[in-house]
Amino acid sequence: MKLLWCLIYICIIGVEAWSDNRQRKFSNDFKFGVSTSAYQVEGAWNVDGKGESIWDRYFHDNPKVITDGRNGDEACDSYYYYKRDVEMLRELGVDYYRFSISWPRVLPSGFPNEQNKLGFQYYDNLIDELLKYNITPMVTLYHFDLPQKLQDLGGWVNPLSVDWFEDYAKVVFDKYTSKVKYWITVNQPNSICTSAYGEAAMAPVLNKGVSEYECTKNVLLAHAKAYRLYEKEYKNKYKGSVGISMSLNWADPADNSTENVEATEVFRGFNIDLFLNPIWSKTGDFPSTVKKIVAKKSKQQGFSESRLPVLSPKEIKLLRGSADFLGINHYTTVLVKTSDEDVQSPSFVNDVGVEIVLGDKWKQSQSAWLRSAPYGLYKLSIYLNQNYDYPTIFITEHGWSTKPGLRDRSRVENMRQYLNALLLAIEDGTNVKGYTVWSLMDNVEWQAGTSERFGLYEVDFESKDKKRTARMSALVYKRIIDTRIVEE
Ligand code: NOJ
Repeated sequence: MKLLWCLIYICIIGVEAWSDNRQRKFSNDFKFGVSTSAYQVEGAWNVDGKGESIWDRYFHDNPKVITDGRNGDEACDSYYYYKRDVEMLRELGVDYYRFSISWPRVLPSGFPNEQNKLGFQYYDNLIDELLKYNITPMVTLYHFDLPQKLQDLGGWVNPLSVDWFEDYAKVVFDKYTSKVKYWITVNQPNSICTSAYGEAAMAPVLNKGVSEYECTKNVLLAHAKAYRLYEKEYKNKYKGSVGISMSLNWADPADNSTENVEATEVFRGFNIDLFLNPIWSKTGDFPSTVKKIVAKKSKQQGFSESRLPVLSPKEIKLLRGSADFLGINHYTTVLVKTSDEDVQSPSFVNDVGVEIVLGDKWKQSQSAWLRSAPYGLYKLSIYLNQNYDYPTIFITEHGWSTKPGLRDRSRVENMRQYLNALLLAIEDGTNVKGYTVWSLMDNVEWQAGTSERFGLYEVDFESKDKKRTARMSALVYKRIIDTRIVEE
């Protein structure tokens, strides 16, 4: 009998090895969702007592930075049409909806002493509408839209921002803990700190070379404090999970030369490990490679101390292990080359000191930075498994941009290819619980306005009710969720 079982087993393995194009399937407990963020969809920027956010201020003061001039004043008007949004979620059949709470909508000045009832009413309504249809809310506490009043106090470079965020988190946890089981503290701290504080890419632009790292420390500590708060006061009773979403694109060397391979390692150190190490590594600290580079460059620039702040033993303890899951926002892969060193000017970009290109054979989306390289998602997952011991993962964003139009074949192709890469990663041990499309519908893509469309649903921004219409990709995603299979 044993021999017979052995033979059957060998046959199965043989057949599997012989044909690797067997159909992979997502398990029944794998979750599918879609994502949006408050500033990008809500509109009603100054309605019912909402406070001003840094993006309101930045775009009102600098309308020309927006490609097509369309800012978030109205966006998709989800503040008024959230019921239609939930109807779309039902059409898709998603398990969960990832959206963010606008901090200045609920706490107009950023502080809990002034709470905006009508702002909370909007989220009460949205969450209740989701629960009515059995759609799980996944709530991001902070998706780029800081109350302007807090920016006036220095924003994320002020160490007090850690407490401001914890106080805000407490108000929101208190209110929604019984209804919301998935929390994301901060969306893309690595973009916030490196783009908003280090480069001119996001508001505000301050103190190059120092504020990026102050921000990094403060945002990570803010996250950790909110995590610990939840762990202490709510977790036992409400059994929710709290994670953080990082922008994690993959990076490969542009060629196999030793210098480009080394440059890529440095690039990964600054863009991945600087933010993951404190939470997921055993040391709980910034990575030693990054520490060494910033210390060396700071010295060359005449600073007596490294521009990268130190994490104290108490802070390390707070940070280490402060996440139930790692949210990955993954869109593309970049190719890395060394660049001429600019030792003199202190900045994050110069500390990393590389040049980045995109694969010339990869399919181009409507966004200059976004090309399709699905293998990168697989490689990223292997890197994370090796370096961070198989973290629990949610893909909290993946998406593709097009021009307006309902026949979005390129999005369908991109989604299928990335989902296949994800299935392969899962088969090889990656612990992924769910996948989230960015985005449910076209929205305000920051400086690109509405010139880059990421939606499964097209939005007619000219129409009175911001009419939403399903694209081909919406129908395909629905089928994938139904069948758990990614058809070619
Ligand atoms: C990541 C950000 O979280 C989101 O706000 C943005 O729209 C997408 N990437 C696409 O760029």
